[in-house]
Amino acid sequence: SAVGLGNIWKFPYITGENGGGAFVLVYLACILVIGVPIMMAEIMLGRRGRQSPINTMRDLSIEAGHSTHWQYLGWLGVIAGFLILSYYSVIAGWALSYIFRAASGVFTDASVEVVKTEFVSLVGDPEKLVAWHSLFMVLTMFVVARGVQGGLEKAVKFLMPSLFIILILLVGYSMQNGEFNMAVKFLFTPDFEALFYKTDAQGNEYMSWNAVLIAMGHAFFTLSLGMGAIMVYGSYLPADTSIAKTTFMIAAADTIVALMAGLAIFPIVFANNLEPGSGPGLIFNTLPFAFGHMDGGIIFGTLFFVLLSFAAWSSSISLIEPAVAWLVENLSLSRIKASVLMGIACWAVGLLTVFSFNIWSDVKPLADIKIFKDATIFDLLDYLTANIMLPLGGLLIAIFSVWIMSREASMEELDMGDRPGYKLWRFLVRYITPIAVLIVFLNVLGILTFK
Ligand code: PHE
Repeated sequence: SAVGLGNIWKFPYITGENGGGAFVLVYLACILVIGVPIMMAEIMLGRRGRQSPINTMRDLSIEAGHSTHWQYLGWLGVIAGFLILSYYSVIAGWALSYIFRAASGVFTDASVEVVKTEFVSLVGDPEKLVAWHSLFMVLTMFVVARGVQGGLEKAVKFLMPSLFIILILLVGYSMQNGEFNMAVKFLFTPDFEALFYKTDAQGNEYMSWNAVLIAMGHAFFTLSLGMGAIMVYGSYLPADTSIAKTTFMIAAADTIVALMAGLAIFPIVFANNLEPGSGPGLIFNTLPFAFGHMDGGIIFGTLFFVLLSFAAWSSSISLIEPAVAWLVENLSLSRIKASVLMGIACWAVGLLTVFSFNIWSDVKPLADIKIFKDATIFDLLDYLTANIMLPLGGLLIAIFSVWIMSREASMEELDMGDRPGYKLWRFLVRYITPIAVLIVFLNVLGILTFK
């Protein structure tokens, strides 16, 4: 669930849009002090409830002697997952279509202009995008309808390491042929000016913590937190598996994959005078160029987009699983019916994203608000889900796990004893997460300002 488009597609482009180093630093800090503890909390709740997130939250609040209103937290997650999948599927469709572009050899010895033209001709054509989006949604709902089973686990165990190996290869290419030092400097030298200072539509500079919120939101997004996806997987986790160890492994692997993607992409960006902040097309405008100029590029390029599509696929299943699980448990629909219904609804909402890249690319619904001056419908959907709904879900998960649930219950489920590890977890979830999320929210809303 964790490794997906978030690492390879989203992390590089939002890092490019937000000035590099300082953004990466805030993101890493958020992974460590917010992401890891919240992931532990979410897995813990899931394993204790052993049902869909909505019913888990209901039963755990009854167990804690509290109002069952906590089940709305489950609802928030179901809606967030649904909305995320609606656009995730469109982008995954790009990855699918690039399998065939890479295989056809169009990128062999291609210039950056040719690579760019390929991308523009794809996203500019709503019919193509709808077709690939539809295919991806069908593939996703096919697995969801059958239920998460052993076959998927086996495939993931083999395919994710393969993706990792191709990433190593790409980083190797970029080291030799790209502006590697510039990329390292860009990614790891914090420039807080670039993080905090933006210009509005009139060209005036203003200060905003919006980029901090984007970095924090991405920590939630990339670890699949705050919406119940990880709770669902927690509900499948064997009783004797260590939640802390599992969490560290997921967070480390996820972060390494994202950083490698950055190290593969930015050297190519700088070597070819591309714009780091060019937006969602960044990987599609850079990596094909690398494949086009390396030995065996057709094979590696094709394989890369196969594996990227696969990573997107295995993540998208967990985005919609909470919704489907709830329909099955509560409305007694069959899994197949529930999946078809959700798939169609989510596909339809996905059309908003499809059109954001072509016929509605000039539609900027909230252009009057400074931070949204250039935001398309897709950008707004992404912002609403990743930067508002997921952190809000995470905040509520934090509050529930340490203020509502009894200490005995969480200690028993995390199974770490009353040792420093448990105490540190409790401290982070009790104070640091809620305070951090609230401060950043209030700042972006303009209620709390710093000079
Ligand atoms: N973590 C996934 C990614 O990085 C996206 C995701 C978010 C999946 C939320 C499930 C839940 O691509």
